[in-house]
Parts: sequence; structure tokens; C-alpha cells
Amino acid sequence: MAAEANDTVTMDKIVALCKRRGFIFPSSEIYGGIGSTYDYGHYGVLLKQHVKDQWWRAMVQHRDDIVALDAAIIMHPQVWQASGHLEGFSDPLVQCLGECKRRWREDHLREERASEASGMSRAERGEDEAELRCPNCGGELSEPRQFNLMFETHMGPVADEGSRVFLRPETAQGIFVNFKNVLQFARKRPPFGIAQVGKSFRNEITPGNFVFRTREFEQMEMEFFVPPAEAQKWHEYWLEQRFRWYTDLGLREDHLRLRAHEADELSHYSSATSDVEYLFPIGWSELEGVANRGDFDLNAHAQASGEKLEYVDSGSGDRYVPHVIEPAAGADRAALAFLVDAYDEDTQEGRERVVLRLHPQLAPVKAAVLPLVNKDGQPELARKLYEELRELMPTEFDSGGSIGKRYRRQDEIGTPWGVTIDHQTLEDETVTLRDRDSLAQDRVAIAELGALLERRLAEPWSSPKLSPAR
Ligand code: GAP
Repeated sequence: MAAEANDTVTMDKIVALCKRRGFIFPSSEIYGGIGSTYDYGHYGVLLKQHVKDQWWRAMVQHRDDIVALDAAIIMHPQVWQASGHLEGFSDPLVQCLGECKRRWREDHLREERASEASGMSRAERGEDEAELRCPNCGGELSEPRQFNLMFETHMGPVADEGSRVFLRPETAQGIFVNFKNVLQFARKRPPFGIAQVGKSFRNEITPGNFVFRTREFEQMEMEFFVPPAEAQKWHEYWLEQRFRWYTDLGLREDHLRLRAHEADELSHYSSATSDVEYLFPIGWSELEGVANRGDFDLNAHAQASGEKLEYVDSGSGDRYVPHVIEPAAGADRAALAFLVDAYDEDTQEGRERVVLRLHPQLAPVKAAVLPLVNKDGQPELARKLYEELRELMPTEFDSGGSIGKRYRRQDEIGTPWGVTIDHQTLEDETVTLRDRDSLAQDRVAIAELGALLERRLAEPWSSPKLSPAR
């Protein structure tokens, strides 16, 4: 049976949990917030950091054909001329001419209408020329105009045309303009890749759905330079790799799918793109794009800069402009997908609990050390054990409130293991190890605990069976 957006987890529940537990909250909240911009609190920072760490591990640490880069956010303005972003990085904007005057993306309105006829491809549905109305007040809409998504600012003290610069709308261009540097210093030959993680900015017309679409976000992008004849093979390879990365980190396979872009959806640089889509509570939506950018970018920058951006084989003397396969993911969007997929509710000993069944590698905190009672030397012993464990992995010490309450708090932030110090610990130097998902409680010797948790952290993991409601 095809997966459906389930009703155990809604975007509202995720937003509420993130606020309640300090993962993510609206930015500048004391001033009323600023349109779809979010700040990450302690657990949100850790979660997103672990997502990025896993991406680096898969892309750079575990391979010898990809190198890292960290390019500047503000680049020479000619970069955006050459890349086509000044000309083509825009969305069709329509404004309500009726009462509410709200602004919409025309393509999104058409998509929403078309989703009623879901299952059909765009070609099958035919051209959608029927008049659109404002979804909010039913008013007439203006003619669409192309709205460029790049944020502008000025460099230096004088704000004129000559000082106009842009905040990058994708990290990718920093990679293309450094192709020659990397080729020279990293001693690589195609196929090889350059990976980068960093902030990007887009003046989205309709941001929304929490951190799914914001105006400031983090991307995890890798440009893989290949001999032109191998482009299709590598495109398929990276699609498979990227799909597998998400399932290895616990996303359920039936909540993921690959969808090839139709011709009229392709970005100005792309000859073929497939999205890894996730079944968010808002329906199937893009999680990551894997594009075949061909030689578009290297040629464009070579032409505009006058630099030769090509690979020359030192043995045969053959020269060519490599083609580029680009897996482009969003760190915030991936973190949101992991949160949604992990969210669960169940009843334990007559009490309802919310539990984040996150992959242990992604969990903000791996272990919580809890004294059963706040006396008899238990807090001191717990604190000592916590200080040892935190050398190995992110660990928390919590001695406030009833033990049940403390377990539930850890369940809500997705901590896979609870370590409880009790009166027996003082006698035989063992602790209770509680598993977040199975709720099994095992007695473990303190001397063996660190090694045991490290082993569990390194083990392959798959999403546990969720509660029946789901
Ligand atoms: N260099 C290619 C590129 O930027 P994209 O599909 O526009 O491709 C890649 O962006 C990924 O970046 C998306 O799949 C998404 O995960 C993330 N992303 C893009 N726009 C975003 C936004 N406004 N808010 C949050 N994430 C975004």
C-alpha cells in the first residue's frame, strides 16, 4: 500500500515540540518575529550539526575522490551574471488585486490546483490555462511578473550601482569559481568532487511550512566533475547514493521516492534533475535535488572570466570541460524530515509520551545520566559518570524532578539511552541502561558502559516499529 501523510505527526506538533524543547523558535521573537526566519536553540543546533556531520562523513571522510571547500558568501557580482542567476533565478509573482493584496507564487498555485488531479503527469493533465483566483480572499490576481530571488546589499560605504553585491542563493557557484584552484592544489582528476556546506539566501515569495522553505538556510552541496561521456552513469550513481544516505539514517523507505523533473521544471543550468522527495505532513515535497548540470557552469565562468576551466590530462594531453553531477541538499530541510519521521506518540505505564525515535547518530544527546534520587551520594556518582561519558559522546546530566519526568524529557529530545544511578550502583558499580525505543532496562557494569554505548552508536540502525496509531 502506498504511504500516506499520517496524522500522528502534523507540522503543528513538530513546531510545538521544537518550541517546547528549545530546538527551533521564531527569530527576533520579542519583536514579533521576522517572516519565516528561525533561530536554532541548543538541541536544534546539535541535531542540525549531526546531520551535517553525517553528510561530511559520507561525502568526504569516507571517500578519497571528494575534497572540502568553504567559499565566501559574498562573491564578485559577475559570478551571478555569468551563472545566469541575475537573468534567470526568479519565480513568477502574482498579487491579489482584491481585498487582501497578498502575494503568491503563480507556479505553486497551479501546482496546488493540479494536485487535485494527482497521479497524472503534467503532460497528461495538459496545459493549465484556467484563471487563478487568490486562495485567501478569492480576488482577481495580477499578471505574473518574474521576481528575482537574490538578496542585494552593498559592499563598502557608498551604496550605488557599482557597489551592488548579492548574498549567494546557492553554495554551488563558490565551487565552480574555485575549480581551477582545487584542480591545481588537490591533485585530483575527473571523476572527482568538491563538497561545501554553508548558508544560502533566497528572497522567497512564499516561505513557509516551518523550516521547509525559509529565506536563510543551510545547503550541503557537492559538485562532481566527470568526463562528459560518463555523466549519465554518475547521475544514476549519485541518485542511488543520496537515497541510501537518508534510509541509512533512519528515514523510512516508503516515505521517500525519486521523482524526475519534467522539462518545464528544470533550472536554467540543468539538463536533467531528479529530486529525492519525502512525505512531509504537507505531502510529497523535495528534500534534495540531484542535477546533471553538464558543462553549463564551467563554460559560463570560463567565458565571462577569460580563464580556462578545463581538465588537461598530463599523460595524453587530452583536454575537456568536465560535466557536473550535483547532489544538492538542505541541512534545515533534512533536519525537518528526520524530526518528522522520528516523531511518535505512545502510552507507557498508563502515561502518554512523545518520543523522537531519531537515529542515534543524529540524536542531539546520546546518553542522559540520571541519579534515581537526589541523595545518598547518587548525584555525585552520576555527575562523575557523566563527566567520563561526555568525553566519548554528547551526554547530559539531569537530577531535577521525578525519574519518570526526566525520562519523558529525554524521550522528547530523542536521547537513545538513559543511564540511571541507584542504590545498587553504590554496592556493585552497575547502572540501569534504559533503551528509548524498546524501553528495555539492563543492568550494566560502569566499567563497560562507555565501550558498550560506543559500539551501539556505531552499529547499523533501522527505525523501530512505531506505535499502532501511526
Ligand atoms: N545548487 C542547486 C540548488 O541550489 P535547489 O534545489 O534550489 O538546488 C537544493 O536547492 C536544496 O536546498 C533543496 O533541495 C532544499 O533542501 C534546500 N533549499 C532550497 N531552497 C530552500 C529554502 N528556501 N529553504 C530551505 N531549504 C531550501
